[in-house]
Amino acid sequence: MPELDLPQRQATDTLMLTGFWYRALPADRVHRNQLHKATLLEIPLVIGRDRQSRPFALRDGCPHRGMPLNSGKFDGENLECPYHGWQFDVHNGQCQLIPSLTSDQTMKVDRIYAGSYPCEEQDHFIWVYIPDPPPPGAGFTKPAEAGEPAPTIEKFSPNYKLAYLQAEMPVSIDHGIIGLMDPAHGPFVHQAWWWRTRHSIHEKQKNFEPIPNGFRMSAHTPSSNSAPYRLLRLYAEADSISTTIDFVLPNIRTETIRAGKYWFSSLTTVTPITRSRCRIDVVAAWNLFRWVPLMPELLKFVFGKFVEQDRRTMEMQAEGLKHNPHLMLIDDADRPAKWYFQLKAAHLDAKRTGQPMKHPMPGPVTLKWRS
Ligand code: FES
Ligand SMILES: [Fe+2]
Repeated sequence: MPELDLPQRQATDTLMLTGFWYRALPADRVHRNQLHKATLLEIPLVIGRDRQSRPFALRDGCPHRGMPLNSGKFDGENLECPYHGWQFDVHNGQCQLIPSLTSDQTMKVDRIYAGSYPCEEQDHFIWVYIPDPPPPGAGFTKPAEAGEPAPTIEKFSPNYKLAYLQAEMPVSIDHGIIGLMDPAHGPFVHQAWWWRTRHSIHEKQKNFEPIPNGFRMSAHTPSSNSAPYRLLRLYAEADSISTTIDFVLPNIRTETIRAGKYWFSSLTTVTPITRSRCRIDVVAAWNLFRWVPLMPELLKFVFGKFVEQDRRTMEMQAEGLKHNPHLMLIDDADRPAKWYFQLKAAHLDAKRTGQPMKHPMPGPVTLKWRS
């Protein structure tokens, strides 16, 4: 029997990838001169905006004695630790003042840093770059640089609407991601009288191709279980509608639907909060129905339903996972999940060896399943 016909044991791998941008908080929740707590990859962060509204992210622990900085005093520029009053520049983390020093004590205050992270605002979210762990000697570490800007949603016209949704789930990022790319749960999890029932299940065939750091479901006419599709039919002929879905490491799924001059574009991320907790953030942009009242609300309702169904499913799954069961990945429905694990392994390999990443997909692949 060819190897691919056998179910494959799923690696229990909850490794979280550093060296990438992650969504930390919705931008509209972070106000000027306020401090917010967030956790990314088990790193406690304090996030805020300076006087000019520029966002920043610091490790939420003072390099002196570990005091959380989120309860400190913030003047719009420097953050003062509530324990001994050391002050840090919020953008680079550099220490500005140690109040206990006397005038003849010449300690070099500016050599001390509270960990600071590159931080950007993009499409309704504050993104934070989590670098590879610094060499030992924390407290004197200058902020890392992100090699590239935070990811953005692709937009195809200057005017559009934007909305986001989020849900937190008690499972590792891996389960969050393979749940997101799993085509077979649709008819069982996403049932609704106005949408589909489990009897609508039918055979599907999709083409996939490798792309840098990920894979693409090649442009195709969307199947009727893609959310905005039915609405799009009001605007364009079915055969002029095309959709492309990409997954790229560490956690990004983008979906683009185009129908003539109309488009819908989304960027979904599954963010590791801790090893056993993740959060799904869906941000969508579109230029359809901009004049239809309540359309954003309707889209939010439809997507919100789907996300809530996924969240509830994963909450139940987490119960089962507590007992450390053996799991499996089957072909073809779980092949994208296999690629995800292989991509992750290849990425780590490339990092370790310094060699270019060896993509796990040899070329285009056609997958078949029923959903
Ligand atoms: S713990 Fe922050 S100043 Fe001492
Ligand atoms: Fe789902």
